[in-house]
Amino acid sequence: MHSRIAGTGRYLPQRIVTNRELAERVATSDEWIRSRTGICQRHIAADDEQTSDLAFFAARAALASASLAAADVDLIVVATTTPDMIFPSTACILQARLGARGGPAFDVQAVCSGFVYALAIADRMVAGGLARNALVVGAEIYSRILDWDDRGTCVLFGDGAGAVVLVPSARPGIISAHLHADGHYKNILCVPGQVNRGSVTGTPFVHMDGHAVFKFAVKVLADVAHEALEANRKTTADIDWLIPHQANIRIMTATAKKLGLSEEKVISTVDAHANTSAASIPLALDVAVRDGRIREGQHLMLVGVGGGFTWGSVFVRW
Ligand code: ACO
Repeated sequence: MHSRIAGTGRYLPQRIVTNRELAERVATSDEWIRSRTGICQRHIAADDEQTSDLAFFAARAALASASLAAADVDLIVVATTTPDMIFPSTACILQARLGARGGPAFDVQAVCSGFVYALAIADRMVAGGLARNALVVGAEIYSRILDWDDRGTCVLFGDGAGAVVLVPSARPGIISAHLHADGHYKNILCVPGQVNRGSVTGTPFVHMDGHAVFKFAVKVLADVAHEALEANRKTTADIDWLIPHQANIRIMTATAKKLGLSEEKVISTVDAHANTSAASIPLALDVAVRDGRIREGQHLMLVGVGGGFTWGSVFVRW
């Protein structure tokens, strides 16, 4: 038994913040942000919106596209670094909001690799008969862990959610998954604060060594795509679409170049929503499914990288 993706969905908060608007707050410019990152704008959640709200709208769209009802869902995995609260998990909150009950629901914390981690876990659970219809969601409100006076980080991120529905399948939809982590790199991208006896100790904002992150990301994204190709006796020519973590256009094009893949085969939506961490891959996937670029029988290489450091690939036949 295997699993396959039967539906996709996405949600972006209504409020759009352009690069020009950011330039009114910190010493930056539309030109600097576009040329360094490819980002033109980001969506920012309203004060009364929670990560589970974003997840809910993305999940609802994914269920509709799979022609399933919430009651059919018997597994929910939410990848997020910005949960509604310390506990219960955002997945449990989402389950109640959807009106589903009984099946397992839990969060996965692998920062920007969270969606590929969550998809790999849910695939094994569906393929192993532990669940039938799984919702896998990446949802983030990064705007709440950004220092909006730090131009080095605040221009890079945004809020959003993307979701897929996994169902059992006789032929592989999810062909393989390869996941990795190396905690020795924990300091180059982190939010080192913690809740301690009623107050936050350490900084609750994203801290990043941009150069180190850039170098590391390009290397491991290309490596883990190669690992998947080798495991499946495929070559770069077999990739119809590369769907990388949407951090930065320069990381994506450098990864494609390292793989020997044409830039036209890279799905990129980072211009429209910036880096939405665990939400970025399912957001890009949903865009390309709905605009008709992704077609039945094609091979997709999903590659994620994020704090930890964590990285991984999921190779998919659509
Ligand atoms: N606007 C204007 N100037 C800026 C800004 C800004 N928003 N941010 C930094 N600068 C300045 C710096 O202070 C520096 O000034 P200085 O030369 O006077 O010291 C100058 O711009 C050049 O800085 P660099 O760091 O050399 O710029 P670079 O071309 O390397 O781009 C960037 C920086 C975009 C952060 C790059 O290193 C990068 O893309 N790193 C990867 C980061 C990333 O994508 N993180 C996302 C999270 S990671 C993930 O999701 C896996």
